[in-house]
Amino acid sequence: MSANYSFQIAEITGYQFPFEPIKSNMFALVCDDDVFAIDTNISPEGLEFIHKHADKNWIAIFTHEHFDHISGLNTLRDTCARVTVVASAQSSANFAHMRRNMSAHYDALFVMKDEETQALARSIVPNGYQAAPADFRFSGTLEFDWHGLGVKLQSTPGHTKGSICVLINETHIFTGDTLVNGFPAVTKLPGGSRKDYQEFALPFLNSLPEDALIYPGHGEIAPLREIDFARTEPIS
Ligand SMILES: [Fe+2]
Repeated sequence: MSANYSFQIAEITGYQFPFEPIKSNMFALVCDDDVFAIDTNISPEGLEFIHKHADKNWIAIFTHEHFDHISGLNTLRDTCARVTVVASAQSSANFAHMRRNMSAHYDALFVMKDEETQALARSIVPNGYQAAPADFRFSGTLEFDWHGLGVKLQSTPGHTKGSICVLINETHIFTGDTLVNGFPAVTKLPGGSRKDYQEFALPFLNSLPEDALIYPGHGEIAPLREIDFARTEPIS
């Protein structure tokens, strides 16, 4: 069973929904009749949240195309009438590509886990997963305001070509798999590039302010200063 946690950005409350088998995170901020989500997954609490807020206006940003980050997208679209899905053009193009979104090989992510977890993984995606493209696609950067929060979407290729980070008020950084605390960045999956990571993603991470708070694609929220940057260097 997964858990969910709450956090605060300015006056707005956000929630974290980890999908426990692989601890991939869905985040969602709620204000009035609006929801701002970053990745959506099929954790029980994530799905419950989607249903509970079905009548709200959703902006859902996706950090990249991998299944563990988009697994809740079809449910979101099926459940909520007013959803705007935002992703980089390159990630969006891979939403329906089962090898590039990793759903064709999803159980391979669990080979090191116990048999029960492996069985769960096989039951979740028996035939792969496809999602329709994003409603709004961009390249480079995209900036907008959401209920007084300054939002910036920043392209950070490396983990995949289309990977992005989401910055809120410059100090709350949702990194997807561009930065996962405690683990080197993975650049060997389809679309990944160690060269891109070193050329684009790493300089971006190094440019973040000291007081930045990292909301990673997997694992717990942590201050940037507590993250061992040497371990964010990609595996060759
Ligand atoms: Fe990923």
